[in-house]
Amino acid sequence: MAAQLCVALDGSDRNWIVTTARNLGPHVNWLKVGLEAFTAHGPDLVREVSTHVPSVFLDLKLHDIPTTVARAAANCVRLGANLLNVHAGGGRAMMEAAAASVRAADPSGSTKIIAVTILTSLDTTALTELGSDHQSESLVLRWAELAQQCGLDGVVASAREAERIRRVCGPDFLIVTPGIRPSWAAGNDQRRIVTPEDAVSAGSNILVVGRPITTADDPQAAAAKILAEMKS
Ligand code: C5P
Repeated sequence: MAAQLCVALDGSDRNWIVTTARNLGPHVNWLKVGLEAFTAHGPDLVREVSTHVPSVFLDLKLHDIPTTVARAAANCVRLGANLLNVHAGGGRAMMEAAAASVRAADPSGSTKIIAVTILTSLDTTALTELGSDHQSESLVLRWAELAQQCGLDGVVASAREAERIRRVCGPDFLIVTPGIRPSWAAGNDQRRIVTPEDAVSAGSNILVVGRPITTADDPQAAAAKILAEMKS
């Protein structure tokens, strides 16, 4: 599939979120509701955002015992999420239960469930402190393969990891990539950033972009520019 654009609606101001969803939703493939917006406004906001855009990514990064995650994942499907995620760190039983629960809640298979591997905010020092003697890159690959074995549809991964994941997990595995910065946008607090063109070349399927679009003077024009760069 051609790479798609997902705009992150990161904020707590309901008015801003809904206005942005209304203005941008018809021009992009996806809008993402994350922890900040969800903890402020809950399921109703997800339902409302879903009326303005083809697909909603509910980015709650579920991580708990298998039964709890499975039930929460089914609730995400029922409230209109087309894509949701869990932490691979929850392990095989949790991921298998979550995938089975999503398939049961949406037998059509159109709702996708993906894994977050190693958070990009964790460097080797942080992993060592947590007791892991692995480099984050090798853990990312290992956890991506495990997610695939558990029946998940893909992973969240930086564009730098995307090429290796694509090689190991094959052409149908969904790779969703944040940390995108067009050459004309500020880096903000993102460290390992790549341009939209490079993310598409690396094999990412869905590019998640927040501030370069939402804080632009003309968010619609910024989204159009990024979509054009993704095609080029
Ligand atoms: O504004 P910006 O483009 O940096 O937003 C990126 C979005 O992707 C945010 O919603 C952020 O939480 C999310 N994200 C990320 N890095 C990850 C996982 C998710 O930036 N490793």
